[in-house]
Amino acid sequence: MTTPFDLVVQGGTVYTPGGPVETDVGITNGRIAGFGNLKGQGKATYDAKGLTVLPGVIDEQVHFREPGPTHKEDLASGSLGAVLGGVTAVFEMPNTDPPTATADLIADKVKRATGRMWSDFAFFVGATPENADQLKDLERVQGCCGIKMFMGSSTGSLLVADDANVARVLASGSRRVTVHSEDDDRLKERNTMVAAGADVSMHPQWRDVETAVRCTTRLLKLAHAAKRRVQVLHVTTAEEMELLKDHKDIATVEVLPQHLTLASPECYERLGTLAQMNPPIRDARHRDALWKAINDGVVDCIGSDHAPHTLEEKAKPYPRSPSGLPGVQTLLPIMLNHVAEGRLTLQRMIDLTSAGAARIYGIANKGRIALGYDGDLTVVDLKAKREITNKWIASKSGWTPFDGMTVTGWPKATIIRGNIVMRDDEVQGTPTGAVVRFQETLQ
Ligand code: DOR
Repeated sequence: MTTPFDLVVQGGTVYTPGGPVETDVGITNGRIAGFGNLKGQGKATYDAKGLTVLPGVIDEQVHFREPGPTHKEDLASGSLGAVLGGVTAVFEMPNTDPPTATADLIADKVKRATGRMWSDFAFFVGATPENADQLKDLERVQGCCGIKMFMGSSTGSLLVADDANVARVLASGSRRVTVHSEDDDRLKERNTMVAAGADVSMHPQWRDVETAVRCTTRLLKLAHAAKRRVQVLHVTTAEEMELLKDHKDIATVEVLPQHLTLASPECYERLGTLAQMNPPIRDARHRDALWKAINDGVVDCIGSDHAPHTLEEKAKPYPRSPSGLPGVQTLLPIMLNHVAEGRLTLQRMIDLTSAGAARIYGIANKGRIALGYDGDLTVVDLKAKREITNKWIASKSGWTPFDGMTVTGWPKATIIRGNIVMRDDEVQGTPTGAVVRFQETLQ
């Protein structure tokens, strides 16, 4: 008997672009090479009977802290959490120390990642007033997924606050510019509300709806003037969704599981500063509007904004407590639970967790289960009921805001370019993550 495939994933329900199909999937040389009944045709076999096979989950917003505050996370621990959570590729953010703002610093991250990261990876270059005119070259460096611009101050020093510099960033290059959209002038004006100490429930009042709407309004205007596509990260308000639906020609939209799952005031009463992040978790009116935007098709993708800080750091009195929540490992279980509870279909979830990032960033060969694509598969048990616990979390920060939550739906295996990297909550072998390739920068 011939064994043409390196791996055959056998007997699962496979989510192809056309919908769910009962088929085996054959992978050879890292690429999907066959469908149908492939019994006995694999050098290795993964038995997916009773399981559901999804395209590999791509998390396009993680902060892995290396180089810099690696006591919170590093590229190895962050990507370990990723694959344990069913994530096959991550895009890592530039607010490290030093910030990733030069070609050398992107190359340094690629070097650090190679042989240490479990998932595939790419890195954002951080926009600054100093490097704005060089971004057209920086965005094409190997291992770079695009430009990240902080229009409002958050963790780290990266900031492009004024219209003139935002316009310079948008004029430099052609790939999508990914934006943290909070108006920095308004943040500074209102900081007196909390600066002397306040309850963390004030966080969404300091960083209020108008802070987000004003910035996104400015960004859309400048993006149209520059004819530059932008990705608006972690959108949190009903009002921004109203705006963004009228700008689908130029702006794509990301939302986060945290903002879809938690709401004020309950999250601050229960979790205190563990719920503090930028932009903030808001009340149920906004959470409901994010769900409506998902089901109306306004939202393009879901990322985790994995932003780990230690419990000790989070225990500082607000507002000295840092903003950000870990999330790369819980993104998929939380979203599968929303599927189980009927808030979105599994097909729509895949569109947001795999295909979306591939479309937005022009990823080559990832984001769908199709011939010629990378053999990146996230195998899930849709019926498994499991409790999310801090103990399960691989992040150096060691906690999750979802500790104690029972979810329906769990990752059973993470397969990256035909390698079974995780099965049954255990990683396999050694880290083999590789640079993600992009259509615009293929050599
Ligand atoms: O809450 C946040 N934390 N928002 C960000 O924009 C950055 C992130 C971090 O790096 O800690």
